[in-house]
Amino acid sequence: MRDRLQRLVPGGSHTYAKGDDQFPEQAPAFIQRGSGCRVWDLHGREYIEYGMGLRSVTLGHAFEPVVEAVRQQLVIGSNFSRPAPIELECAEQFLELVPSAEMVKFCKDGSDAVDGAVRLARAYTGRDMVAVCGDHPFFSTSDWFIGTTEMQAGVPRSTTQLICTFRYNDLPSLATLFERYPGAIACVVMEAARTEEPGPRYLEQLRDLTHRHGALLVFDELITGFRWHASGAQHVYGVAADLSAWGKALANGFSVSALAGSREIMRLGGTDHARERVFLLSATHGAETHGLAAAIATMRFYRDNPVVETLYARGARLRKGFERAVADNGLVGYVDVVGRGCNLLFGTRDADMRPSQAYRTLFMQELIKRGIIAPSFVVSYSHSDADIDRTIDAVLHALPLYRQALDGGVDRFLDGQPVRPVFRRYA
Ligand SMILES: Cc1ncc(COP(=O)(O)O)c(C=O)c1O
Repeated sequence: MRDRLQRLVPGGSHTYAKGDDQFPEQAPAFIQRGSGCRVWDLHGREYIEYGMGLRSVTLGHAFEPVVEAVRQQLVIGSNFSRPAPIELECAEQFLELVPSAEMVKFCKDGSDAVDGAVRLARAYTGRDMVAVCGDHPFFSTSDWFIGTTEMQAGVPRSTTQLICTFRYNDLPSLATLFERYPGAIACVVMEAARTEEPGPRYLEQLRDLTHRHGALLVFDELITGFRWHASGAQHVYGVAADLSAWGKALANGFSVSALAGSREIMRLGGTDHARERVFLLSATHGAETHGLAAAIATMRFYRDNPVVETLYARGARLRKGFERAVADNGLVGYVDVVGRGCNLLFGTRDADMRPSQAYRTLFMQELIKRGIIAPSFVVSYSHSDADIDRTIDAVLHALPLYRQALDGGVDRFLDGQPVRPVFRRYA
C-alpha cells in the first residue's frame, strides 16, 4: 500500500509532514483509526501518538462531543445556496473568545486565513511588501510564502521579491526593514511566540513600530490559538494584532480556519463601504456546516473544561520525566525538549552538538518500537498521566542506544534512511 500511495500521490502523502521521509522506516505506513491519544495501524498495533494531526486534534481523536455535533449536522445537510444559521452561531462563539476581533470569516485551511490577512493588509494600506518573521518556519502554502523557503520551484521571483524577513525578539531588525523600504510594507506577519518567549515589552514595541510606519500587525495563531490559551497568544501576552489567523485546534481536526480582526479592516471584504472591494476568502466549501458544528462543539468544550490547563500539566509532567531520563543517561545538551508544556518539541544533536536528523530518526525509531509515535511531544487533552508515564518509560529505554550511538556512530543503529527536512530543494 505504501508503494501504491507513492505511485499515485506525489510524495506519498497529501501532507508533506506526514510523508515517508519524515518518519523512521519502521513507523506504521498507515494509521487506520484513532481514539483519544491512541492510534492503530493496519495490523492492529496500538500506539500513543503525539503531534495529533499536526496539532489540530487538541481534544483527542474521535472525541465524542465533537463527533456527535458533526453527526447531528451531517444529516441535515452540509452546504446550501444561502448561509446556514450555524455560520452566525459559530461567528458569535468565536468572537466571544477573541475579544480583540470584531469580525471573523471562516475558511478551510490556516494558509487561507493568513493569505486573506495579507491581501486585506495590502488593500487596506495600498502597499505591496510583507515583512515576515524569519525565525518562524511556516505561514502559508501560497507563493508569497513558499517562495521564501528552500522549495521554491514554480514560484515567480516577482512574488518573492515583495517579501522581507526580520528576526524574532530583535526590534532593530524590523526597524531596518521599515527604513530600507519606506512606505512599502503592508504588514508584519509572525507568531506571537514559538519556542522562544517574547522579551519584556517586545510585542508591544513591535506593534507600535509597525503602526508608526503605517503597516498592520498580523498574528498567526494557527499553533498558539486554543493551545497557549483558548483566546490565543494575543490574550496571554496582552497584545492584540490588527488581524489574526486561526485554525488547527479550532475544530479538533475538522477543517475550519478563521481570519479575525477589527471591523474597520475586515469590512473591506464586505459590501458596506465605498472603497474598492477586497475578494476575501470566498470558497465553495468555506462554511461547510459540519465543520462549523465541530468548531462550536470544540469551543464549548474549551469553555466548560480545563483543556488548556490540562495540556500544560501533561506537558510539564512529560518535560520533567524526559529531562530526568536525559540526565540519567548522561545526554544533557544532546537531547532536549523546548517550548511551552502545551507545545513541546524535542531537539537531537550529534556528538559535536550539531542538530542531527540521523539522531532524530534514531530517537523516533526507538520510541516507535515501544509504541510511541512522536514527531514532537505535542500533547492533547486525552493524554492521561498514565500515558505520559508510559512515554517517559519509553524514553528511558530509548536513550541508552542514543548514548551508544554518540560513542560509536549512529548509522549502525538506524534501521533505514534518516528523516529529512520538508523544505529542501531536491528529492
Ligand atoms: C504557524 C502556522 N501557520 C500556518 C500554517 C498553515 O496552516 P494549514 O496547514 O492549515 O494551511 C501552519 C501549518 O502547519 C502553521 O503551523
